[in-house]
Amino acid sequence: MCGIVGGIGNIDFHNYLIEGLKKLDYRGYDSAGLAFMKGGKVELHRAMGKVSDLEAITPKFTGASVGIAHTRWATHGEPSEINAHPQKSNEGIFYIVHNGVIENFRELKSALRQEGYIFYSKTDTEVIANLLESHYKKEKDVLRAIEETQAELQGSYACAIIFALDPEHLYFMKNASPLLIGLDGEANYLASDAVPMIPYCNKFIDVEDGEYGRLTASDFEVYRDGKPQEPHYTERNAALLTHDLGDYPHYMLKEIEETPACIRRLVENYFDGTSFLFDQGMINALKKADYVLFLACGTSSYASEVGVRYMRELGKNSDAVIASEWAYDPFIKARNPVYILLSQSGETADLIHCLKIINERGGTSIAITNSKGSTIERKSTYACLLYAGLEVAVASTKSYADQVVFLALLKAAVEGDTDVIKDIRSAIAAQKTVIKQKEDIHEIAKKVKGISDAFFVGRGFDFLACKEGTLKLKEIAYVHSEAYPGGELKHGPIALIQPGTCVFCSISEERLSSQMRNNLEELKARGANIILFSRKALQKKGDAFSYPDIPEYLSPLLSVLCFQYLSYYVALEKDLPIDKPRNLAKSVTVE
Ligand code: F6R
Repeated sequence: MCGIVGGIGNIDFHNYLIEGLKKLDYRGYDSAGLAFMKGGKVELHRAMGKVSDLEAITPKFTGASVGIAHTRWATHGEPSEINAHPQKSNEGIFYIVHNGVIENFRELKSALRQEGYIFYSKTDTEVIANLLESHYKKEKDVLRAIEETQAELQGSYACAIIFALDPEHLYFMKNASPLLIGLDGEANYLASDAVPMIPYCNKFIDVEDGEYGRLTASDFEVYRDGKPQEPHYTERNAALLTHDLGDYPHYMLKEIEETPACIRRLVENYFDGTSFLFDQGMINALKKADYVLFLACGTSSYASEVGVRYMRELGKNSDAVIASEWAYDPFIKARNPVYILLSQSGETADLIHCLKIINERGGTSIAITNSKGSTIERKSTYACLLYAGLEVAVASTKSYADQVVFLALLKAAVEGDTDVIKDIRSAIAAQKTVIKQKEDIHEIAKKVKGISDAFFVGRGFDFLACKEGTLKLKEIAYVHSEAYPGGELKHGPIALIQPGTCVFCSISEERLSSQMRNNLEELKARGANIILFSRKALQKKGDAFSYPDIPEYLSPLLSVLCFQYLSYYVALEKDLPIDKPRNLAKSVTVE
């Protein structure tokens, strides 16, 4: 994972690098570091922990001409100062920050050891730094050294490189990890995504896999295999990339409560008041498809499962498979499949792996992502944006809702049924009602904050919502929990129910309501503490919370909203780091 940021020219580097890292720390936050060149010398600062720890040990500096910085999610080597980036080469001529994983780093390391190189860290990044140095000593040319280094590296990397003998250039190279260049009259920038650069530039270049090059303060060069390349200019919508927390205590809370506005914006982008605005080629591909396979990870995979229901309602064969599983068992069940890839970040490595397989087979893919310019957006046959705005909290919230609504719109567009718009509007109104009643869910959270285990049970759409509920409770509140279909507990897991065991449940589908209540009776009889979220029309005395009536196929928009609040408030009561839970990163760019 990891985030990188760099720049060259007339820049307040102290501010740009530190603030830039803070905006990228959703990509990892177990250590951080920066290097800059000033008066012909490179200064390096690294710290274990968050960017604020790096900020605390970095003296305020001015007058630098070039700088790079990094926030890390450890892959090779435990989080520590020595393993933090930038890493430098043995003679201190290359300083490098790296996002990605070098698969053949062991072989390269032992070859470099034979040449006399010594390794101080456990990182694969130090191997790149020394490989660059080794090639530079032979080639006496940095761009050639990068080209030679790239030829030997296997794996993913987006790197920013300071060459300590040349304060006039900032070098870079990229393969299979995101890298964006930002242009401004007086300085040039690069970073893992546009957010750190948005205050300074509005013109961007996507660096493609296999490309490398260098920036000066006023110019840039991009190469592939020694040949100059045409830049791929791209734009970013600054309004969708604001990083402002406003009056909220946490990004997660802010993002949960942005959901109704995000859904409204999504609808505006795909419906003009009378017709749907989807690419007709994409709709035709879906109409013709004899199988729709959803591929995704985590929260996006649970939104995909809602999509499967929608596709089956259209009469399509459809499944959802976790991307990391399909990538190594890429079955095809039909002659004319369409693959739908859901990803908030658009950079999830497991999904990129799937897309590579689909593209090699000439398959038709539809990417649904929140990230313009992301790999998944650029490499699929059709790409649709979610317009949810920046999601900073590690836990995905508003994107889930946008994904579900997008899939409902897509289904409706295939059917040509615009009634969906009315339904979505009622869901938005209902969400606002739940948001107003959030303190009731806070009270529930206070009562259960001490639990270490829980079950989530539901049937139909509610089971799908439960899967997302259990993920949220695990990652934010550190409570072990499992989601089960209501009818399944008695086939084994009911053995774990004891007096006081916490069972969260959602009931929104009328046809499944009485079966679900019977299942809850079975659990209650064994002493379970049932906490039931029900749709108003299905509410009964004793239910913990009820949400407004909306069409059942959109019910995950409300049940998941309740579960998001539940996890948020349990984590709040436990005083946990809600926006940056331990061991996680938002953009999972390693397999
Ligand atoms: C959970 C969460 C993760 C992501 C998963 C996929 O709150 O954020 O489970 O949903 O890593 O990420 P994307 O959607 O970016 O592909």
